[in-house]
Amino acid sequence: MKIKYHGIAQDEREMGVAAARNSSRWKQIAIISFVMNVLLSITTLTKILLELKKQPISEYLRETSSYSPLLNSISLNLDHSVINGTLFPNTSPPSIWRQNPSPAVDEAWESISDTSLFRITRADVLALGRDPSTTTAVPPSYNLGADLYFAELDGQHQLHCLNAIRKYAYFPYYFGDKYNDTISMPVFHQHHLSHCLDILRQNLLCQESTDIITYQWVEGQSIPQPDFSIEKVCKRRDQIVDWLDRRYLPLTDDMKVNVPRPENVAEIEVPASPYWNELVEKARAAGIQLHEYVE
Ligand SMILES: *[C@@H]1O[C@H](CO)[C@@H](O)[C@H](O)[C@H]1NC(C)=O
Ligand SMILES: *[C@@H]1O[C@H](CO)[C@@H](O)[C@H](O)[C@H]1NC(C)=O
Repeated sequence: MKIKYHGIAQDEREMGVAAARNSSRWKQIAIISFVMNVLLSITTLTKILLELKKQPISEYLRETSSYSPLLNSISLNLDHSVINGTLFPNTSPPSIWRQNPSPAVDEAWESISDTSLFRITRADVLALGRDPSTTTAVPPSYNLGADLYFAELDGQHQLHCLNAIRKYAYFPYYFGDKYNDTISMPVFHQHHLSHCLDILRQNLLCQESTDIITYQWVEGQSIPQPDFSIEKVCKRRDQIVDWLDRRYLPLTDDMKVNVPRPENVAEIEVPASPYWNELVEKARAAGIQLHEYVE
């Protein structure tokens, strides 16, 4: 009994020491495991957060654009494509975009620069920071839906401007039978030209491309030549066009030109102040369309 007791006591004492030793080892293991777990969790969490942040490309696009219902309603994707930067065409004729004016060329350009009106909601108008009371609503008499507003896509207006400048550049074809040159064409056209140049200037500066152009030695050329045929990351044009197609307002010419003006509607002041009114008056006095007025 005694021996047993002693034995037990001794055992217990030994067990106690061992337990203490074990417990301190366990403590170490627990601390290491805890630290490792925390590190692992942080790494995993960071990865998940980065993935989440990386996920829809629309997130990035939203950060680099002002509010657009397009970016809010679809997940716009990006595509890699190579620019055709050839200076001298190696095909005859060159691609439609580089040909001299013709009905086919006009058709191609019209097809990419459609500025038809589409619909946005009142919530979109507010998100754009615009006042719905001074933003033109789709007239209820058009029966196209309630609380809708007319909208145009900025990108399409820029394409329209590029096309307009193209026409002024090929002046004899488009205006030669009416005017002598861009300097003496009607003021409306002069301002349309300078407005379009200025629109594209500001947009190019705003979205200055940071892509890099390298130089190459080219057969028959004494100095290195820039290689403009670079790879670009582009917004998926088909998705944009599809989005627009689903929102275009089916307006007849009459509906476009004779939009009923609501009674007591809030009007904004003429932007370029007296000049526009003066022009309207001069054209009226001369009995001609504003677009045809020559100073
Ligand atoms: C680039 O455009 C030019 C001019 O239209 C054409 O001749 C050439 O074949 C095009 N190059 C490629 C790689 O498509
Ligand atoms: C075009 O130039 C001719 C010759 O200088 C001039 O007589 C004519 O008035 C000009 N026409 C216009 C529309 O400026």
